[in-house]
Amino acid sequence: MRVSLMATFVGLGLAVHANATDASIGDIQVQPTGLQWEPCPEYPDAGLSCAYFDIPLDYYNASAGNGHLLVVKANATVGESKGTIFMNPGGPGVSGLESLATDGPAMLNHSGGVYDIVSWDARGIGPYTFPGDVFCLSDEEYDSFWNGSIEVTGTRWLGNFTNQTDIDSFYAQAPIIDAQYRAFGERCLQGPNGTTLQYIGTAATVRDMVALADALQGPGTPIHYWGFSYGTIVGTYFAEMFPDRVGRVILDGVLDATAVATKQSYLLWRTQVGSAEDSYNGFANACALAGPNECAVAPFEGATGADVVDYISKAIETVHDHPSASNVSMMLLRGNIYGGLYKPGQWYVLANETLPGLLDSIFGSDNGTLDQPRALSRRTFSAQHSYTEPAVVCADSVDADPNLSINDIFDEIVNVTREVSPSFGAFWPIPWHRCSYWPARAVERYQGPFNQTLANRVLVIGNSWDNATPFSESQHIADVLGDQAALVRQNGFGHTSIYEDSSCTKSIIQAYLADGTLPADKLTVCEIDDSFEIYPGVKGASVTPVNAGKKV
Ligand SMILES: *[C@@H]1O[C@H](CO)[C@@H](O)[C@H](O)[C@H]1NC(C)=O
Ligand SMILES: *[C@@H]1O[C@H](CO)[C@@H](O)[C@H](O)[C@H]1NC(C)=O
Ligand SMILES: *[C@@H]1O[C@H](CO)[C@@H](O)[C@H](O)[C@H]1NC(C)=O
Ligand SMILES: *[C@@H]1O[C@H](CO)[C@@H](O)[C@H](O)[C@H]1NC(C)=O
Ligand SMILES: *[C@@H]1O[C@H](CO)[C@@H](O)[C@H](O)[C@H]1NC(C)=O
Ligand SMILES: *[C@@H]1O[C@H](CO)[C@@H](O)[C@H](O)[C@H]1NC(C)=O
Ligand SMILES: *[C@@H]1O[C@H](CO)[C@@H](O)[C@H](O)[C@H]1NC(C)=O
Ligand SMILES: *[C@@H]1O[C@H](CO)[C@@H](O)[C@H](O)[C@H]1NC(C)=O
Ligand SMILES: *[C@@H]1O[C@H](CO)[C@@H](O)[C@H](O)[C@H]1NC(C)=O
Ligand SMILES: *[C@@H]1O[C@H](CO)[C@@H](O)[C@H](O)[C@H]1NC(C)=O
Ligand SMILES: *[C@@H]1O[C@H](CO)[C@@H](O)[C@H](O)[C@H]1NC(C)=O
Ligand SMILES: *[C@@H]1O[C@H](CO)[C@@H](O)[C@H](O)[C@H]1NC(C)=O
Repeated sequence: MRVSLMATFVGLGLAVHANATDASIGDIQVQPTGLQWEPCPEYPDAGLSCAYFDIPLDYYNASAGNGHLLVVKANATVGESKGTIFMNPGGPGVSGLESLATDGPAMLNHSGGVYDIVSWDARGIGPYTFPGDVFCLSDEEYDSFWNGSIEVTGTRWLGNFTNQTDIDSFYAQAPIIDAQYRAFGERCLQGPNGTTLQYIGTAATVRDMVALADALQGPGTPIHYWGFSYGTIVGTYFAEMFPDRVGRVILDGVLDATAVATKQSYLLWRTQVGSAEDSYNGFANACALAGPNECAVAPFEGATGADVVDYISKAIETVHDHPSASNVSMMLLRGNIYGGLYKPGQWYVLANETLPGLLDSIFGSDNGTLDQPRALSRRTFSAQHSYTEPAVVCADSVDADPNLSINDIFDEIVNVTREVSPSFGAFWPIPWHRCSYWPARAVERYQGPFNQTLANRVLVIGNSWDNATPFSESQHIADVLGDQAALVRQNGFGHTSIYEDSSCTKSIIQAYLADGTLPADKLTVCEIDDSFEIYPGVKGASVTPVNAGKKV
């Protein structure tokens, strides 16, 4: 997440579009009929069905032309389908197809299996939707374009970013990044995807979903929706743009849409990493509980969480002190740790495979193939050098502040690292940090209001220690929605509620989907099931975020 080549904001005026809460979706009629389901590309055997759906590029300007979405469906598994839940998996940039292929069974299980789950590759994503993946540089240009900058090496820092050598070398990058990001913005605009950048964005994605619902289940029908992570922005905007269409809406792993819609984007990272250290502590503490027989980064029998952190810290320090000694960059190392925290049920993969592989490379015993880092999201799909994330978050972003400089952004990063997250605060690149340089804004952006009267109440879910979306954001959105929302705090780790089992959370989701019932209390705390284990014999419920020592 990541300011000032503002070029193509061609909206007709936000107020006009944003208040279009009448029954129509926009000015333009979209295909009114059903979809032709067929086997899905790439996942023909995943038990999914796919279809293409035509969309206007601009819901208020027919002469802009048309695009299409790849739509994907996981059929209900229990009895006759009670209808459809639309789902956005987050990112932005996570493919609906890939997400249902991976997590569809978990989502069906969580929702009780009685609804079909329909997702889609939203604008900006993948090779099947148009406008799809966003390319600005060819693979050949990529390395030379970013040659030597933190864009490819990551930031070099330790602990709370107090070493003056690190600080100096970081600020020495400011003019380099400034020049690269300006040139990059120009390249994107001049490149083959330049003219469609303004048609990507969350407001258009919301209208796409409403158009899709009209086609699948009839105009004006209530829309059931489940949004994860960035998908909660889609969900919140949907509720505010189409309050009369709100059926059952679940916001899980919440990003604060009111901040995203109104703040300079580089300020969002501070909140987003608010629980990242808690999550890293949980990972280390779980590993310590498991011991070296189950967790490969527990250095010895009886090791504590702090010992696990120290063991990993040696690798971070080595990469810091000898950046050229291996081909593991700070970005790769920290990015893999952060990315490995998303799914507690797979913490063992980080502990047993990813980290040992990286450590072997760092300490020189193996130079094998390494995983790519995963930053903000489970960014998937084919294209390695697609700029979907900035294309979406920056298209939605407020206009760049002409007084904002790259040094302001760098100051914020240093502060976030010192004050919020020493382990991940200075991670680079982050899409939000790019937005003041991004060369386009969406033809329509939703920037409020956030106080509409909704047709139905909404369910907001946040984990206590979510590495990518702290509970404070769920709390905030639940507060903004007031008595139109019920809030569930799932007392566990990971990004969104589905990666740890909680019968309590599941039963709330299932009751809500069945007939709209929500807990009477504004806040319900749900524990993780005793049966859910992170390592053999290590119950998820017994893992705590208690400080596992100094982080480097
Ligand atoms: C899903 O259900 C539809 C009928 O609604 C059926 O045509 C399709 O074959 C089913 N898809 C799969 C993968 O079973
Ligand atoms: C509508 O789109 C066309 C084609 O891109 C463009 O030339 C025109 O300026 C747009 N009109 C408005 C009002 O944005
Ligand atoms: C969800 O998974 C649990 C555990 O595997 C199983 O007992 C339950 O029946 C599943 N529920 C549905 C609706 O698939
Ligand atoms: C960018 O171009 C590629 C290749 O033609 C295409 O697949 C993709 O949909 C385009 N994306 C946008 C945003 O126009
Ligand atoms: C990067 O720059 C260095 C020196 O400035 C040069 O030797 C190297 O070939 C460049 N690499 C690429 C991929 O352009
Ligand atoms: C993880 O690694 C340990 C060795 O440290 C091994 O004993 C254990 O079986 C591994 N667990 C899994 C799930 O791979
Ligand atoms: C700061 O980092 C530099 C470069 O890695 C190192 O040489 C120096 O010893 C460090 N200074 C302190 C006070 O740790
Ligand atoms: C791994 O790479 C490093 C640096 O390139 C090299 O010094 C080391 O010998 C390599 N190790 C192996 C096992 O290839
Ligand atoms: C790591 O470095 C070695 C030797 O320098 C190289 O052969 C290998 O391809 C590199 N691995 C990765 C994942 O970049
Ligand atoms: C960063 O912290 C310093 C010292 O605490 C403070 O003076 C400065 O205003 C902060 N900058 C930002 C962008 O928060
Ligand atoms: C910096 O790190 C030290 C040691 O880890 C810690 O005691 C101190 O509170 C941190 N400073 C800030 C401003 O977070
Ligand atoms: C809703 O919020 C807008 C500003 O975002 C404000 O002008 C309006 O008065 C609010 N309406 C209600 C009913 O509170």
